[in-house]
Parts: sequence; C-alpha cells; structure tokens
Amino acid sequence: MPYTQAQITTEAHRLYGLLQHVSKTKNTTWSLTDCETAAAYTLEINRIKQEKNAVILAHSYTTPDIVYGVADFRGDSFELAKKAQQTNADIIVFAGVWFMAQTAKILNPTKQVVIPAGRAGCTLADSMTGEDMQKLRAQHPGVPALCYINSTAEVKALCDVCVTSGNVFDMAQKMPGNELLFVPDMLMAQNIEIELARRGTPKKIIASGGSCCVHTQYRPEHVEKLRADYPGITVLVHPECAPEVCALCDYVGSTKGMADYVARSSQKQFALLTEVGLVNRLEAEHPDKQFVWEFGTCSYMKKNTLMNTLQALVAPRPDQVVTVDEPLAQAAQKSIYKMFELAK
Ligand code: 13P
Ligand code: SF4
Repeated sequence: MPYTQAQITTEAHRLYGLLQHVSKTKNTTWSLTDCETAAAYTLEINRIKQEKNAVILAHSYTTPDIVYGVADFRGDSFELAKKAQQTNADIIVFAGVWFMAQTAKILNPTKQVVIPAGRAGCTLADSMTGEDMQKLRAQHPGVPALCYINSTAEVKALCDVCVTSGNVFDMAQKMPGNELLFVPDMLMAQNIEIELARRGTPKKIIASGGSCCVHTQYRPEHVEKLRADYPGITVLVHPECAPEVCALCDYVGSTKGMADYVARSSQKQFALLTEVGLVNRLEAEHPDKQFVWEFGTCSYMKKNTLMNTLQALVAPRPDQVVTVDEPLAQAAQKSIYKMFELAK
C-alpha cells in the first residue's frame, strides 16, 4: 500500500525516537534518514499483521528495526517460547533462527509459523543429529538428559528436559543423580559443571561437541584488555562462552539475565561478551549508560530483514514455512513442557 509522505515522516519519527541512541555500525547510530527508509516497511508490516491476525516474535539478536519497528514481543529464547505458547494469533512470524521457529511450531501445531530468514542455522543446533543423540543415550543408560533449546526437534525428542540459558543451571541442579547428559554446547556443559560444584551440588556432565561460532570467539585476553582500557567497567558474559572467560567476568547469564543485570545496576559502563543485538537493545533502553562492544555478530540472526519479514507475512516461500511431523512434535513437546513445569 502506498503511504503519504506525512505518514512516512510520522513513522520515521516514531522509529527515530526509539533508535536514535542505537549503533547502526561501529561508529554510527541510527539516523532519521535510516528511519525514513525503514518506515515504509514498518507501516506495511504492522498493517498486514493486524489484517492477518499475525504476531511477530523477535529474538534480541535480530536487527533493531525489527525488534523496535514491528515486533510484538522481543526477548530471549525462553521468553519467546513462552509467548509462542500463549499467543492467540493465527500466524506466528518468528524473527530468529530455525530451531527457535521450530520450537514455536512444536508448541503450536495448528498455527502457521513462518521465519523470514528461512532455514537460518545455528552452529549449536546444527552440530548434532537425532542419531548422534540416540547413540549418546545408548552409551549412558539411565543418565538423565538435558538439551539446550538451541537443538533440533529430533534431539529435543530424545531428551528429558529442554533448557535455555536463563534456567540451565537451576534445571541441571534439579536433575536426579550425580551424572547428567547435556547437549549440544560443550562450553555451557563445562560452565554447568563449575556452577554446580560452586553451589555444593556437584555432578559429572557428559557433553557432546557443539559450540556457538559467536560466543567461542571471546578469549580471556579480551576481558583483560577491556579492564585495562576501561578501569572499573562491568563485564557481562553469556554462558556459551568458555569457562576461563566467564571466570574473569562480573556476571554470567542469559540474554535476559544480562539485560536485567544492567537495569538493576547503578554502574554506568558495561562491556557485553555476547551478540551485538543485545548491546543494541540496551543502548535503546538505557541511553544514560555506556556499552562497549568489540565484536560478535550472528550472521544467521541477521538474515532476518524488514524486507523478508514483509514478504514472509504476505506470501511465504516453502523454506520459510515451518513444519514438524506430528509424532516428532509430540515427542519434542514433552521436553519443552517439562521445562515450563520445572521453571515455575
Ligand atoms: P538466549 O537463550 O540467551 O536467548 O540465547 C540464545 C542464543 O542463541 C544465544 O546465542
Ligand atoms: Fe546459534 Fe550462536 Fe547464533 Fe545463538 S549466536 S543463534 S548459539 S550461532
């Protein structure tokens, strides 16, 4: 639908009000001109969304024009899985990566779930097949199995409880016995073992070999350099990073955990060892605080754009429509519902 210049200008100012403090590149922030370019898309997406009774769920790692321009809910993988479970919309547009949209479909078998980015992978989810999981379980009979939500439906179907970065330590602690299978993130597995020992409830964690291509890039020397360059800085880290990096930071937690930490803190300067999308969210929501960010971009998440969000909403391509076979969906659903139950 063509919009008048006055409508575009009003929408551009709405977006600028939200994005003016947000980095667009390392050295620039969102300008009014950037917002004018986005405005024609956000107006049309928001109009069609209402017409079709669709809801847009956006992970914090997608770009700020999606997160603040068109998303109805923004958050980390746990928050978005909960929203997907609760929505009354007929169509769920999931701006994220494939396993996240697949989780939304598993929770809503009768709804249409589309992902603008198509089959956008994740190095963690893609590191392990259902067959690999089957073998691992056969090698360790009777040992409870947790899977990180960054896993395929096949892997979820073979595990007892699905977890997210927001609840992984508590869930691991709740499992019976002194051994635990945790897949597919080997670094998070090491962090669990360390955290459970610290809590006085040690367990042996048996892991598979996956890792996140974004979070594995952080090394202890980055933290040391940050502390040298910005004396007194507060450093936050995602538990997908290596334990030796986590050990040097002030807080280890999920995307939401880090956001809550910043909101509660009276500190003014933070470094985030995670994906730039979270930095952008915090820039938007805390203009009075300073965020130092060196690198860390998930190219899979950034495959979602306003352009393909509009196209997926109007006429999704087959690769943007999420389908999961009924028996597989039912089996995978059990581990996700178990997480909701235990997380209460
Ligand atoms: P969150 O669970 O913190 O949203 O993390 C998802 C993810 O993909 C992190 O890389
Ligand atoms: Fe997967 Fe890492 Fe991207 Fe998260 S940041 S979606 S774990 S590749």
